[in-house]
Order: sequence, then structure tokens, then C-alpha cells
Amino acid sequence: MTAQIIDGKKIAAETRELLAKEVALFHNETGITPHLAAILVGEDPASAVYVRNKERACAKAGMKSTLHKLPSETTEAELLEMIEQFNDDSSVHGILVQLPLPGHIEEQRVLDAVTPLKDVDCFHPENVGLLAQGRPRFQPCTPRGVQVLLEKSGIDVSGKHAVVLGRSEIVGKPMAMLLVQKGPVANATVTICHSRTANLKEVTRQADILVAAIGKPNFVTAEMVKPGAVVMDVGINSVDGKLVGDVDFDQVAPIASSITPVPGGVGPMTIAMLLDNTLTAARIAAKG
Ligand SMILES: NC(=O)c1ccc[n+]([C@@H]2O[C@H](COP(=O)([O-])OP(=O)(O)OC[C@H]3O[C@@H](n4cnc5c(N)ncnc54)[C@H](OP(=O)(O)O)[C@@H]3O)[C@@H](O)[C@H]2O)c1
Repeated sequence: MTAQIIDGKKIAAETRELLAKEVALFHNETGITPHLAAILVGEDPASAVYVRNKERACAKAGMKSTLHKLPSETTEAELLEMIEQFNDDSSVHGILVQLPLPGHIEEQRVLDAVTPLKDVDCFHPENVGLLAQGRPRFQPCTPRGVQVLLEKSGIDVSGKHAVVLGRSEIVGKPMAMLLVQKGPVANATVTICHSRTANLKEVTRQADILVAAIGKPNFVTAEMVKPGAVVMDVGINSVDGKLVGDVDFDQVAPIASSITPVPGGVGPMTIAMLLDNTLTAARIAAKG
């Protein structure tokens, strides 16, 4: 069997092109340019790269982005004050706090402080609740990216057994929520696995669609995958200076029906979905 290699780079580029057209149309109708305010605390080099990529993507899509760099010794109170300013600033539509934050700042308190109407990462409890109820305001970026890849690759999800490996608030749980919803590219029967799951291999081998999001390089081997399964690899791990996923691509690609590579699979979709949420936030603001 030769697996379909899902080209996330290409699908993300197409998605962003479409989005740029929507942004232009929205601007013509309302005079509003969607504006993403990104906050970066500290000097983490990987975070700096992520934020720069988000800025560039905004510019390409015709959106405004502003980067607000704060020193690593910034207090939680100072950060909360900045968020409050952006919450109140009607020219800012989306607020992004780049993670991780320095250890002395409590992440949850900071993420909860972003007003739900500008929460383009979909981390706020109100937005997570709306998502859980099947009436999302914003889409969780990385999981939504996986869903769009499935859709654009013509993969039928309805009635399939999807196994999500990982239960984080950013990827695993919202991924499961999207796949189990009533609606397009959903209606799956979903199992969530984590580090305490017993007989993991037996569970993953039942998956028609396997989403790996655990942050362990090459963890998913061929014996964990049912022949013909769709394998979506969210993992981004650096091994000897090379990026690898959570799936052992060389082993699994020959038995999968479709698979995402790393890099060039799920990764590029996350930013595209962030832009989509920023446009949604601007639309919400325009409605008043
Ligand atoms: N493509 C993108 O844009 C994107 C975005 C976000 C994250 N990522 C990548 O996706 C991966 C996961 O990220 P994350 O933020 O979800 O990570 P995380 O918060 O560290 O969560 C990892 C999850 O995997 C589970 N896990 C760890 N080891 C396991 C094992 N041996 N067997 C079964 N489950 C195991 C953990 O279980 P417990 O809950 O029991 O500890 C946890 O639920 C990372 O490589 C990250 O870099 C990529």
C-alpha cells in the first residue's frame, strides 16, 4: 500500500490565500483591518520564531499584527495589565499570549484574563465550553488544522473510530471534541489515550483515524497502527537538530492509507487557523 502523503504546506497556503480574499472583502465592506496583538514575554528563541511567523502570516493575509515584547522579569500583574488594555482597545480584535510563559507567571490566570471575544487561541473556559457544546465561537487552532487537512484530503470521518493520543488542553482534548461533534468532518467515535492508558497498542490498533499528539519522537510504530489507517501526526520534536513527529514515519507510511509528514503536515495549518480566528474576532467586533 502506498499512503497518501497529506501536504499540509500546500493546503495551508491555499487556506491562507482564500482567507486573504475574505479579509479583503471584509475590509471593503466594513473598513476594518483585522488586528492581532501578540505578547511575547522573555527571550525564548523558539517562541520568538513562532511569533515572527505569525506576524508574517498576518501581513500576507492583509491583517495587522502588533508584537508586544516584554522582558522575562515582567510580573504577572504587569502582563495582566497589558491584556486588560488590549481587552478594552476596540482596534485590537485578537489577543495572543505566546506560550510558554516564564515560571513565575501563572499561565492559566493569564489565559483566563483574555476576553473570550478576542481569545483567538480558543483557550478561555467560555470558548472551550461553547466548543464542548458543539457551538464554537472560535476553533482550537491545531485541532481545527487537523480537521481541515482531513476534509481537504477527502477523508470520511463519520462513523469512524478516531483515537487521539494525548489529552492536553491545547491539542488532545479539543481534537477529540471536534471529531465527536455532530457535523461535517466529525461524527467519529472517539477514544482519548494518555500516559495512563492500559494496553495502548491494542487501543491505537483499533483506530481508523489515529491522531498523535504526545511530544515523543517516533513513538508510534508500525505495530501500533492498523493497516489502512489514517495517521495524523501533530508532534514536533527536535532530534539531533532535525524535526521529527510523534510517528515513526518510515515505519508507518507503508501501512497507512494517508499520513501527514513532519515537517510540512499539521504544523503549517496552525497559523492558518489562527488567522481564521482573527478574522472571526474582527467580524464579532464589527457586529458590535
Ligand atoms: N503542529 C502544531 O502546530 C503543534 C501545536 C501544539 C503542539 N504541537 C506538538 O504536539 C505534541 C503534543 O503537544 P501538547 O501540547 O499536546 O503536549 P503535552 O501538553 O505535553 O501533552 C502530551 C500528552 O501526551 C500524553 N503522553 C505522554 N507520553 C505518553 C505515552 N508514553 N503514552 C501515552 N500518552 C502519552 C500525556 O499524557 P498525560 O496527560 O497522562 O501526561 C499528555 O496528555 C508536541 O510534540 C508539541 O510540540 C504541535
